[in-house]
Amino acid sequence: MAKPKVLATHRLFEPARRILQKHCEVEYWEKPERPPREEVLRRVKDKEGLVCLLTEKVNDDLLEAAPKLRIAANVAVGFDNIDVAACTKRGVVATNTPGVLDDTTADFAWTLLMAVARRLVEGDALARSGNWKGWDLDQLVGTDVWGKTLGIVGFGRIGRAMARRASGFQMKVIYTDAVRASAEVEKELRAEYRDMNALLAEADFISVHTPLLPETRGLFNAANFEKMKRTAFLINTSRGPVVDEAALVAALEKRKISGAALDVFEKEPIVHPGLRRPNVVLAPHIASASLETRTKMACMAAENVITLFEGRQPANILNPEARKG
Ligand code: DGY
Repeated sequence: MAKPKVLATHRLFEPARRILQKHCEVEYWEKPERPPREEVLRRVKDKEGLVCLLTEKVNDDLLEAAPKLRIAANVAVGFDNIDVAACTKRGVVATNTPGVLDDTTADFAWTLLMAVARRLVEGDALARSGNWKGWDLDQLVGTDVWGKTLGIVGFGRIGRAMARRASGFQMKVIYTDAVRASAEVEKELRAEYRDMNALLAEADFISVHTPLLPETRGLFNAANFEKMKRTAFLINTSRGPVVDEAALVAALEKRKISGAALDVFEKEPIVHPGLRRPNVVLAPHIASASLETRTKMACMAAENVITLFEGRQPANILNPEARKG
């Protein structure tokens, strides 16, 4: 029997390729740069499966071009690139990769937090510049992390992994979320619930872990920057459009807040020029980018595809109602 045809818009990692190749005939986009959209639309025509990155829009255009498509497997936990309703309407299953990247992403949010608080990037630049004149008492003085208040916006798996790491720094942890965590979780993570306004007013470091939803788009806007402490820092490893970048730049210019550390941007790969300032640490959307985790994400997407082709429901299905059987 012919194997189902799959398009992978990335070369993936060897373990994921091994999973796919047993069950599918896979066409990979092997080049290091992202495939042009026309190429994806052309190649997906005869495919029953798609393994894609968060840079690929799975929308009506793509679905129209792929009449045989049965599954779109995102290699990411965030799936704002996928029009899930459009997939459901056409009976296309959509999947993501939750769970495997929580600790790696939280590690990186902490990396950003520490880097901006302790001015690591400025220090690195000075140390390698050849202009460092030696130790000085007030050189690159930053702000303490330990003992401060960490505010977590979005208390899902990654937000909780962020909280778990705070105890080593003797921090107070406060969080906000549409749904309050259970008393057991709050106790285990020593995290206290706040509404958004209270969190903005109290936190020294605010780390964002919400998905991009209509209600979180532009959540960090001028009004909310006004409510933050002037000494506070914003860390974002979720999705760029959760932060209104023009408002953030204005808040930094007017010293409404002390700094920011960002892994994600409103219009990736464009970085607002106003963010290129010493009190902002910038990273190119790499919070989950450890070899171990990215390999797990690719394998999970591959498993989602083959599970569907074997007639079972993929573990990470986003629209169970779309299953054609
Ligand atoms: C995701 O998975 O949504 C991240 O942004 C990439 O790891």
